This record gives sequence, structure tokens and C-alpha cells, in this order.
Amino acid sequence: MRQQIMPSKGLRGTLTIPGDKSISHRSIMFGSLAEGDTEITGFLYGDDCLSTVGAFRSMGIAIDVTEEKIVVHGKGLHGLEEPENYIDVGNSGTTIRLISGILAGQAFNTVLTGDASIRKRPMGRVIRPLSQMGARIIGRQGNTLAPLAIEGTRLQAICYQSPVASAQVKSAVLLAGLYADGWTEVVEPSLSRNHTELMLRSFGAEVECAGNRARVKGHPRLLGQRIEVPGDISSAAYLLVAGSVIAGSEIELKNVGLNPTRTGILDVLLDMGADLTIGNQRESGGELMGDIVVRSAKLHGTTIAGDLIPRLVDEIPVLAVAAACADGVTEIHDAQELKVKESNRLETIAQGLRAFGCDITVLEDGLRIVGGKPLAAGAVCDSFGDHRIAMSMTIAALAAEGAADIDGFEAVSVSWPSFWSDMQGLEVK
Ligand code: S3P
Repeated sequence: MRQQIMPSKGLRGTLTIPGDKSISHRSIMFGSLAEGDTEITGFLYGDDCLSTVGAFRSMGIAIDVTEEKIVVHGKGLHGLEEPENYIDVGNSGTTIRLISGILAGQAFNTVLTGDASIRKRPMGRVIRPLSQMGARIIGRQGNTLAPLAIEGTRLQAICYQSPVASAQVKSAVLLAGLYADGWTEVVEPSLSRNHTELMLRSFGAEVECAGNRARVKGHPRLLGQRIEVPGDISSAAYLLVAGSVIAGSEIELKNVGLNPTRTGILDVLLDMGADLTIGNQRESGGELMGDIVVRSAKLHGTTIAGDLIPRLVDEIPVLAVAAACADGVTEIHDAQELKVKESNRLETIAQGLRAFGCDITVLEDGLRIVGGKPLAAGAVCDSFGDHRIAMSMTIAALAAEGAADIDGFEAVSVSWPSFWSDMQGLEVK
């Protein structure tokens, strides 16, 4: 679907950001493995998280979905049943990688697959450590690509030195560790988001974390919980950038997740000169949250690299838009992981911003953006089936000098089905 977008006259008002995608996935997974009911409010009803709901329903878990809450009727660590068919994860990397860890330790077999993007994304990164634990997983192309066939078996605990800072890899290993004797440990090159560690602990597992290490003790008794999912800072990111770069904007974002492993976007935008005020901070289930007010401001270029990257990995496309609107040069390094996301985001963001006349170069490990030139009218860009590219291009279009078109706009439903109507609700008429 093609969406035409007119330049914005300013965005003003208050918005409650949709629920955090990572936390929503985990709430269904851990709720299914817990004894008793788990009640979830603030759940993200996006396509990805609904794929996780479908996966656990197919394994015999009753999940009641209503507008105000979700109730997962968990059946304990050994309560899953063999699904009658393959499990289709759609576009969701989090679903396929995390449940691979869970399924490796079951007493039954499963087959996992997903859409064309999922079938291109690297699965060797989870198959390798899980195989070290004794898992039996095969996949296409020498066990590197989905579909994956998993023969459930007994697992052994390991200490895994992960070559990538990836919460999906870390979580797959830790979740397999629930089914192994003793402590299963993951050491990462930089700390990735720690929602699995925090939520497993709140469900009753023994989890220990120190620096870039996390470990879990096998065979815990998980008990159903009440979970309040905070708003997704990765979704808030579009408004933090839009509110900064579109003159005359002032937006209050309610209930945004502020877990420090996710707030790199705030550090970078503040460093670029953004006007952000954070208030009403509180905690629920170990997760910090608060409200953020963003007002338009003159941004300048910066450098984004190193340990910051995992703390803002999903926000790089929209940060590239901020950089295009900022004075001076922005360089992003150590961001090779972007090549294996829902699309090759280094390429797709560069292609999109070039349609607006932006001077952007794809580097071996990131991007170089020469900012400050107004974004030109008449851009036609593509989402490449990637929700974050569709939304980032929308922000560029709102900040541009004239109308722009985005093809494949429907991809936004992966993480923010009401994105367009929410944006229009903030538009100054
Ligand atoms: C996620 C981890 C990140 C992130 C993805 C969600 C998660 O992926 O990009 O959107 O929920 O664990 P990687 O683990 O591949 O970095």
C-alpha cells in the first residue's frame, strides 16, 4: 500500500506509546511456562507479538485476548504440547529465536518457519550455542536458515561466550537453560537488552547478572504474574525525532519504558541538542518507565559507536533521519548487525534518505550522513517490508519540503498498527 505524506506544520499533544514489543513477546512466553494465570496489560497488539500468541496457542496454551488485557493460562515448564502443524512466526525474529531455546528442551518435535525476511535471517547464531547444549536442530543451508526442525531432547548447561551482542541469542540460550541442570551462562561483547533476565526473575527463576554476564539456574518453578508492559521506547523514538526536527512541536509521551539497556536514543538525542524532559519515573516488574516531553530544537551531528549500539540498535534508522536534519556530519560505527535485521537497514535507510536528496554513505560498519540540507519534496521510497524503515521514512516525509510517497506502508503493523492515525492525531491542523 502506498501512503502519501504531506509536510507537517508541527506535532502537538499527548500520546500513550504502544506496548514494548520485546516485553510483550516475553510476557506470553514466560506466562505459558509458568503455573497459573499471567495477566498482561499494555500488551502490544502488533503482528509480531500476535505471532507469539499463535505459537503458544498451537502448543496447547489457552490465551484470552481482549482489548484491555491478555490472560495466559500457563501450564508450567513441562506443560507445552506438540503442535499439529509447523509454527509460523511471520516476520518475528524474536519469536523464532527465543522459542528455539524453549523448544530444544521439550519432549516433542517442532518445525518453525516465517515470512521471506525471516527465511533470510541468520539462525546459525542460535543453533550453534543450542547445539553445544545438546539440542538437535537442523535448518536450510547447512543449519543456518529457517525453516528449522527441532527434535526436543535433554540439554546440558553451558557457559557461552557470544560473538554478538544480541538479546535474542542470549535469551535463546538462557531459556534453553531452564531445561538444563545447573547454571547456564551467557557472556556478551556488550550488554544487550536484559528484559529476559528481569522478567524470568520476576516469575521466580534464579537469575544472576554482572556486567555483560547473565546466568540462570535450571528447572525453576515459574509462577503466573501480573505484568504491566511499558510503552516501547523504540516506537517513542519516531516521535522523539519528529518532535525534535519538526518546528513548532511539543509532544508528551506517556508510559515510555526507560530500561537503561534501551535508552541509548535518549543519550544520543540529548548529545545532539534535543530538548527532552523526563518525568514521573517509576518501576514495575523490574522495568523502569516514565513520561517524556519533547520540544523542537536545533540538532547537530554526532558519532554513535561501541557499547551504545546495542542500547539503540532498532533506533538507528530514525536516528539517521535526525542526523539528516541536523547540522554537520553524523557517523555511525559498529552497527554491522543492521545488515541482518528485517531488511539490510544500512542499505534501506540510505536508499530512503537519498530519495529526499540527503548525502548519506554506507560504511562497512555503519553510516556517514552529511546533515543540514532541507529534505527535498517528491521523494518516493519503499519500506522494503520493514516496519522501522516505513516509520523512519514517515518522519523524514513529515520533515520534508513537500509531499512524499511511501510504498509498502502496511509494514508498520508489525510493531505499531495505529501508527498513522496516532501521528495524524498529533498533527497541528
Ligand atoms: C530483540 C532483540 C534485538 C532487537 C529486536 C528485539 C529482543 O535483536 O533488534 O528488535 O526482543 O530480544 P538482536 O538480538 O538480534 O540484537
